[in-house]
Amino acid sequence: MSTRNTQLDRSHLSSLLDRERKTYRASNPKSLALYNDADNLFGGVPMPWMNKWVGGFPLYMHSAKGNIIVDVDGHEYIDFALGDTAAMTGHSPDASVKAIINQIQDLGGMTTMMPTEDAQWVGAELTRRFGVPLWSFTVSATDSNRWAIRLARLATGKSKILVFSYCYHGSVDETFGVLDANGNTVARPGNVAPPVPIDQTTRVVEFNDLPALEAALQHGDVAAILTEPALTNIGIVLPEPGYLAGMRELATKYGALLMIDETHTISAGYGGMTKRDELQPDIFIIGKCIGAGIPSGAYGFTQKVVDLINSHKDADLLDVGGVGGTLAGNALSLAAMRATLGEVLTEQAFDHMITLATRYTDQVNEALDEHGVPWSISQLGARAEYRFTYPAPKNGTTSMQAGDDELDEFMHLYMCNRGVLMTPFHNMALMCPTTTEEQVDRHGQLFKEAIAELVQS
Ligand SMILES: Cc1ncc(COP(=O)(O)O)c(C=O)c1O
Repeated sequence: MSTRNTQLDRSHLSSLLDRERKTYRASNPKSLALYNDADNLFGGVPMPWMNKWVGGFPLYMHSAKGNIIVDVDGHEYIDFALGDTAAMTGHSPDASVKAIINQIQDLGGMTTMMPTEDAQWVGAELTRRFGVPLWSFTVSATDSNRWAIRLARLATGKSKILVFSYCYHGSVDETFGVLDANGNTVARPGNVAPPVPIDQTTRVVEFNDLPALEAALQHGDVAAILTEPALTNIGIVLPEPGYLAGMRELATKYGALLMIDETHTISAGYGGMTKRDELQPDIFIIGKCIGAGIPSGAYGFTQKVVDLINSHKDADLLDVGGVGGTLAGNALSLAAMRATLGEVLTEQAFDHMITLATRYTDQVNEALDEHGVPWSISQLGARAEYRFTYPAPKNGTTSMQAGDDELDEFMHLYMCNRGVLMTPFHNMALMCPTTTEEQVDRHGQLFKEAIAELVQS
């Protein structure tokens, strides 16, 4: 293990941050004016989370293609945020755009109440990648999780969902639990108006802790373990060797379904971690990138789970029983999914993206080693993320504790002011099929310069 123990001078950091904030404000007058004029938007933004953008206001996009974004002030950025995975295809990839225009303009019909031929093609392709044989569609990963949770309860007759502390699976009530210092399941700090106390619906354990998982499952009331195979929403927390196999065994032993959400971890390869590491989910969740930005999502089941669901003859799966939405599986999102899976997110594209993410990770490690800065970086296929602690955290709570708002803002603004976009409120960088070595090297150079400035005081 290399020595990384340089202490950063916080007052020096504050003055660097102040400099970057001033530059950001001065360089982006049009974005600032649009933000200040947004009188009819709740919080001044289309979605409240956009207020978490560093520098006090978000950049407004003008246009985007591949991994280049141009903002309304005319700045061009290398985009490593890629819509927090929703644009892992790169922005507006040609093959998806062609299929989308064909559906909208030539064929016509974006949403009807009829299936289109694309649905079976997409179902078969999802099976080829992720293994499970039977699929249903949604317009977001959040919806996929919500509906699959409901069906997991139906299938097992059990009431609780088990999640890992500081996981994220979209705005799904059952998942907003964390462990407190005494090991109790409590609501995540700031969770908005939970409908019932979280411990009525949820059991929480730490990731990478099989004995704790077994203890929670022994209560016998868990319908499904819902997890990403590596946590990606609290930095990247990779599974320790044998952990996921152990989880699979425990799920089977205690009659809980294993529900794997690969909305982000699909970055591991064209079949996600499920194919790469031969995971065996009972239920599979996907969303974001599979429609190249057209709202799309899917959830898949094994035959065994479908048989359990179908054994409940009284469940209203066809109408208002609580599963499904009018826009789910619409013709436009299926056309987008077919082209995106068939022609954009190919095995070859993943090879390229993963090679670049390795290059990116190596450059970050070199700079950290050179200056002895105690941060770590974790790579998961085409994505990599650094965290302000060393070595890399092994569970969600320790990763959360390594959060550092000032450092976070400094690194984001430093990059942004020099034409590189990192994922807002992550230090995550994702590669897409059009990302180049030169662009990765540009980040590597800037990262080195930022670290050199930080350690000087
Ligand atoms: C693992 C995971 N699942 C589900 C979601 C929800 O996705 P969406 O907000 O597109 O519904 C997210 C969002 O970040 C996610 O990271």
